[in-house]
Amino acid sequence: MTRRYTVLLFGFLLLLNIFSDLEAQEIDWWESAALYQIYPRSFQDSDGDGVGDLNGITERLEYLKEIGITATWLSPIFESPMSDFGYDISNFTRIDPIFGTLDDFDALIAKAKDIGVKIILDFVPNHSSDECEWFKKSIRRENGYEDFYVWHDGIADNAGNRLPPSNWVSVFGGPAWTWNAERQQYYLHQFQDKQPDLNFSHPLAREHMQEVLKYWLDRGVDGFRIDAVPHIFEKINDDGTYPDEPLSGWSTDPSSYDYLDHIYTKDQYATVELLYEWRAFLKKYQSENGGETRILLAEAYSSVETLSQYFSNGTHQGAQLPMNFNLMYLNGYSTAEDVVNSAEYWMNTMWKQHQTANWVVGNHDNSRVADRMGRHKVDLLNVIVNAMPGASVTYYGEEIGMGNVPTECTPISCDSRDPERSPMQWDLQANAGFTKGDTTWLPVADDYERYNVQIERGVARSTLQIFKGMQQLKKTAAFKAFKQPGGFSYNALTQNVLQIVRAAANSEEYRVLVNMGNKVERIENLADKTMEYVLLTIHSPHNYGDKVDLSGSFYLMPYEAVVLRSRT
Ligand code: GLC
Ligand code: MG
Repeated sequence: MTRRYTVLLFGFLLLLNIFSDLEAQEIDWWESAALYQIYPRSFQDSDGDGVGDLNGITERLEYLKEIGITATWLSPIFESPMSDFGYDISNFTRIDPIFGTLDDFDALIAKAKDIGVKIILDFVPNHSSDECEWFKKSIRRENGYEDFYVWHDGIADNAGNRLPPSNWVSVFGGPAWTWNAERQQYYLHQFQDKQPDLNFSHPLAREHMQEVLKYWLDRGVDGFRIDAVPHIFEKINDDGTYPDEPLSGWSTDPSSYDYLDHIYTKDQYATVELLYEWRAFLKKYQSENGGETRILLAEAYSSVETLSQYFSNGTHQGAQLPMNFNLMYLNGYSTAEDVVNSAEYWMNTMWKQHQTANWVVGNHDNSRVADRMGRHKVDLLNVIVNAMPGASVTYYGEEIGMGNVPTECTPISCDSRDPERSPMQWDLQANAGFTKGDTTWLPVADDYERYNVQIERGVARSTLQIFKGMQQLKKTAAFKAFKQPGGFSYNALTQNVLQIVRAAANSEEYRVLVNMGNKVERIENLADKTMEYVLLTIHSPHNYGDKVDLSGSFYLMPYEAVVLRSRT
C-alpha cells in the first residue's frame, strides 16, 4: 500500500515537474510581439489640416490588425509647442489639439481593445517643454518647484566671468546649460534649450511623473515607450558642482555631442533604479486592476551590458523591452556575417542572461532601410527581424518599403530627421490618401504610386505581402517555441547567406534563408530532408509549394530570401 502511494506520489511529482517545465516555456504576449511605431503627425489625417491625428489612427487600426500587429506605440500626442514635434511636452496629461481631444483618445482605445491591438504611449520623463507650467513655477522658485529642474549658478573663470557649471554638450549640439535671465541661473537641457531636464532626485518630480503613468494606465493603455532613458540622471558632486566630462577623441568640434565621453550624463545607475521603480509601479497597477501585462520599452542607445541592467539586475525588473538598435548600424555593404555578429552582440548577453530579444529596423530618428541599406534589402530586413526569436519593432511604412523623402525646410519644419517622417502612403489618391486636404506638413514621396498599401495588397510578393507572411509565421507554434531547447538557431552559411532555423518539438521546422549579396549562392548538403517553399521574395525563381531536396545543391539568387518548411 505504502509502496503504491510512493509510486503514485512519484508519478505525480514527475508530472508536476513536466508541467512546470512547460509553463516555464510559455511566453507572455510581449515576448514575441510584432510591434509597430506610429508617428502620429504622419500616419493619417482625418480633418484635412495636413497633419495626422488620433481619429486618423483610429480609422486605420483595422490595417494594423490586417498586417498582424500585436501592439503599436505612438510617438507623443500630448500638448506641446512642437519645437521637437511633441518631444517637448507642456502638459503631460492633455492631448495636443493638433491630434484631437481626450474623447478622440478614448475612442481610439475603445476601438483598439475591440479589435485586439494594444496601444503603447510615448513617455518622455527626461524633460518637459520650457512652456510647461512646472518650468514656469520653477523659474519663479514657487514652493515645491524650486528644484524641480536642474539649476545652477555656474562657475567663475580666473577673470571673474560667469561660465556654465560644466563643459557638458547637448545631444543636438551646443552647450547643455542655458542661462535663464529671470531666475538668474543656468538650467540643464540634454536636448534643445526648449527641453529643460527634470531633476529626478526631487521627490515631487518623481511623484508627478508617476501620476502621468497612472493617468494613462487608467485610460487603458498597455504600456509605455520611455524616451531618452540614458539621459535621465546626471552626476552631481557632493559639493553641488558638476564634473566636466573627458574628451572622447572622436570629434574635434567642441559643440558636437561626440566631442565628449559621456560618463557623467549617460546611463547613471540611478536611472537603472528608476526603471525598476516604474516597473514595480506597473506591476502593482496590474495586480490591482487585472488585465494583461503592461510593458515598458526603453529607448536607450547604450551598450548591451547596460541594456541588460535596464532589463533586470536579477533581483529587480525594469523595462521588458530595452530596444535593440544594433541592426540599425548595418549598411548597404553588410553581409550575412555582419548580421550574425550584430545578433550575437545582443544574444551573448541578453539571451544568455534573460532569454529575451527584440529587433528594431527603424524609427523616426534614423534614415529608412531603403536608404540606409538599399531598396533591394528592405524585404530581407523585414524577413530577418521577424524571423529572429523575440519581439520585432517596425517603423510605419517599412512594411511597404517607403523611402526617405528629401525635404527643403518648410514653414512648419526644418529638422534633419524630416526625410524619414514623411506621410504614410496608403493609396493612389492625391497625397497618397494621407489627407483630404491640399497640403501636407511634410511632402509625400514622389514614388507613392508605386509604394503604397493599396497597390501592394494586390501584388504577389510585394513588400507588404512578405511582411504579412512573416507575421503569420511569427504566430505559429514553431516560431513561438523559441524558449524550448532547439527552438531556434542562426548562422552564416557563407559570407552572404544567413540561415535562421525555427522549430517546435514534434511539429514543424522552418528554415529562413537570406542572400544578402548580389551573387548566386550554392549550398551543398544543407540537410538530409526535403522542404517546401512557404514564403518567397520577388527575386526568387520558385513557386509557393515547390519542394526542394536539401541533401543536394540548393541555390539562392541575388537578394533572394525564402522560408522553407518541413513537418515531422
Ligand atoms: C528621443 C526621441 C527623439 C527626441 C529626443 C528628445 O531620442 O526619439 O525624437 O528628439 O528623444 O526627446
Ligand atoms: Mg489633422
